[in-house]
Amino acid sequence: MMEYAIEAEGLVKRYGDKVALNGVDLEVRAGEVIGVLGPNGAGKTTTVRILATLMRPDGGRARVGGHDVVRDPVRVRSLIGLTGQYASVDETLSAAENLVLYGRLLNLPRRQAKARAAELLERFELATEADRPLRTFSGGMRRRLDLAASLVGDARILFLDEPTTGLDPHTRNQLWEVVRGLVHDGSTVLLTTQYLEEADQLADRITVVDRGRVVAEGRPGELKRRVGGQIMHVRPTLPADLDAVTAILTELTGHAPAQDPGAGLVTVPAADPMLVSALVRRLESAGITADELGLRLPSLDEVFLALTRQDAGTRRVAA
Ligand SMILES: Nc1ncnc2c1ncn2[C@@H]1O[C@H](COP(=O)(O)OP(=O)(O)OP(=O)(O)O)[C@@H](O)[C@H]1O
Ligand SMILES: [Mg+2]
Repeated sequence: MMEYAIEAEGLVKRYGDKVALNGVDLEVRAGEVIGVLGPNGAGKTTTVRILATLMRPDGGRARVGGHDVVRDPVRVRSLIGLTGQYASVDETLSAAENLVLYGRLLNLPRRQAKARAAELLERFELATEADRPLRTFSGGMRRRLDLAASLVGDARILFLDEPTTGLDPHTRNQLWEVVRGLVHDGSTVLLTTQYLEEADQLADRITVVDRGRVVAEGRPGELKRRVGGQIMHVRPTLPADLDAVTAILTELTGHAPAQDPGAGLVTVPAADPMLVSALVRRLESAGITADELGLRLPSLDEVFLALTRQDAGTRRVAA
């Protein structure tokens, strides 16, 4: 019985007296893309390393492809592909040699390892660079090779730790296409990312991790709705009115608005659509005109900030 491709329950990990994971739960169905989001140090890489059997948890349990990561690491490794946060390939070898080496490590016969390497180099648009030593590769080329390396073994479950960090928009799009292709072919993908747009584009579900705990979980749209419904925004005609607008919004919503002086914009979460007419009246009586005013759904960036705000007291969605 294999209901989930990835399943973790109460994962705990300590480094000395530093608690990196403090009870992480995850459930990922086969064929899903899950995006794990969190600020620096949240515990994303630690979670990936435990699931990929590179590190043992101090507490809790996890199963990948139905196999326990601690009791059955060899079985787990035969099912997964892992792309590290830092490319983990040999600098002195060429791109093709690196991929063949991976294939050999996975016990592919030499001929098959070569064929697989050629196929992957083609797919990642690296065929013309196949024989160049890796140390002459740019960051984006390394990332592509790193992802290719994780696919040598025909893995059905892929862990991608910040696969597109530092890539230009074109290369990032290229990787997104590759990931979509993999999912289309039935792979399960767990990816960590700092880019909310990436999670929005790729992930079926998002798990937000903060300080070693899951603070929210759901589809991107659900998370947006859960975080205070909508965002009210006002752009006063005169930048000098920013503070007055901020004061009015604070009074109306009971929340501290965010000011963006560069954009001349004040924004605040607003649960009640009726607030717009109240706002218009207040602005009128204060003699303030606005170039832009209204309600919109929050962006995933705003969701993320609301969920991982440092002061736990201001967190608006409970775990
Ligand atoms: N080898 C280690 N020794 C000591 N502490 C560590 C070690 N690795 C990670 N940590 C700590 O554990 C916590 C979680 O780290 P982790 O690398 O999992 O975070 P992350 O979410 O991947 O962060 P980033 O976005 O920066 O990659 C951090 O506080 C980090 O400082
Ligand atoms: Mg990390």
